[in-house]
Amino acid sequence: MKENKKESRANILARSESAVRDREERLRAILETAVEGIITIDECGIIESFNRASETIFGYSANEVIGKNVNVLMSTPHREQHDGYLENYQHTGRAKIIGIGRETFARKKDGTLFPIDLSVSEVKLSDRRIFTGFVRDITERKRLEKEILEISEREQRRIGQDLHDGLCQHLAGIEMLAQVLAQKLAKKTKDGSDRATEIAKAVRESISQTRLLARGLSPVTLESEGLMSALTELALNTEKIFRVRCMFNCPEVVKFNDHAASTHLFRIAQEAVSNAIKHGKAKKITIHLREDAGHLRLRVSDDGIGFPRNFSTSTGMGLRIMQSRIGMVGGSVTIERQPTGGTSVIFVAPKHR
Ligand SMILES: Nc1ncnc2c1ncn2[C@@H]1O[C@H](COP(=O)(O)OP(=O)(O)OP(=O)(O)O)[C@@H](O)[C@H]1O
Ligand SMILES: [Mg+2]
Repeated sequence: MKENKKESRANILARSESAVRDREERLRAILETAVEGIITIDECGIIESFNRASETIFGYSANEVIGKNVNVLMSTPHREQHDGYLENYQHTGRAKIIGIGRETFARKKDGTLFPIDLSVSEVKLSDRRIFTGFVRDITERKRLEKEILEISEREQRRIGQDLHDGLCQHLAGIEMLAQVLAQKLAKKTKDGSDRATEIAKAVRESISQTRLLARGLSPVTLESEGLMSALTELALNTEKIFRVRCMFNCPEVVKFNDHAASTHLFRIAQEAVSNAIKHGKAKKITIHLREDAGHLRLRVSDDGIGFPRNFSTSTGMGLRIMQSRIGMVGGSVTIERQPTGGTSVIFVAPKHR
């Protein structure tokens, strides 16, 4: 009887050990077959595990990085500041990334920087805590986004040029015809002649509106004179087309030779201005541009109704495209509801990419 009891205890122990082993195997299999890179670090940032997908993504074998500080996988400035992030989180409990997730850059073994989607979660064990990072290589997605933006830029320019060279010329012809008609009618009926003159005037107005639209779509000033001049023109044209106050405020000369980045910033400002008018019903808009500590800061403020408080779903493309554009130039965007009313959309981008 005693012997039986002993045996069953041994059996129970063996069974639970095998269950633990089984669970560990299953967990390892899940980690190793996951398509996402999964990396765990301790509270000091030392890598404890590095799954197979992480090896493929970063080009390191697990043995090469386990025991090293996770900052070997990071790009500047996170590489230098990561220990500080961990310390800060331990002291304040305020998380900047844990449970949030964001797009950032990582570093491969050969030093190449590449874009990733990173989310981090905290796991509390009985005696300590660890952090798990989930990493997805988004190089391909970013390449596609860039291509789409380039296609859209080309199309906008093409439509702008077609409007300018096609529709504007066509309207100019109609204006001429209306003027000739007005002259002919002048001899017969004053009323008819006045109407023809009115038509000519309306057509002239349409030509200048179309020209302004064409210049917005195909901003030649941006190419020839740079971002500052293009934003000055954007403000002027906005006043003319939409009959609102629109000012460009740039306290000091900003020299910026990166044409692709200038185009992104110009299109972002254009969309923010258009949103201020369309959604904010703004009467006064200010576009601020300044350079500060190696960064370009672009802010579009309006005196409109303010950004919706419970903004969650919108079928609009504007803010999404802005986000994507600012990502292309390695910057960030924040939207603020101003206490005095109105909205401020703020973009910060490094001057040198
Ligand atoms: N300056 C602003 N003032 C008030 N609300 C704004 C402002 N900018 C954006 N919004 C809000 O953000 C939403 C999304 O804007 P977004 O530019 O993405 O889309 P859209 O303008 O509706 O469409 P699209 O840009 O594709 O023409 C708007 O519907 C509006 O509610
Ligand atoms: Mg919009």
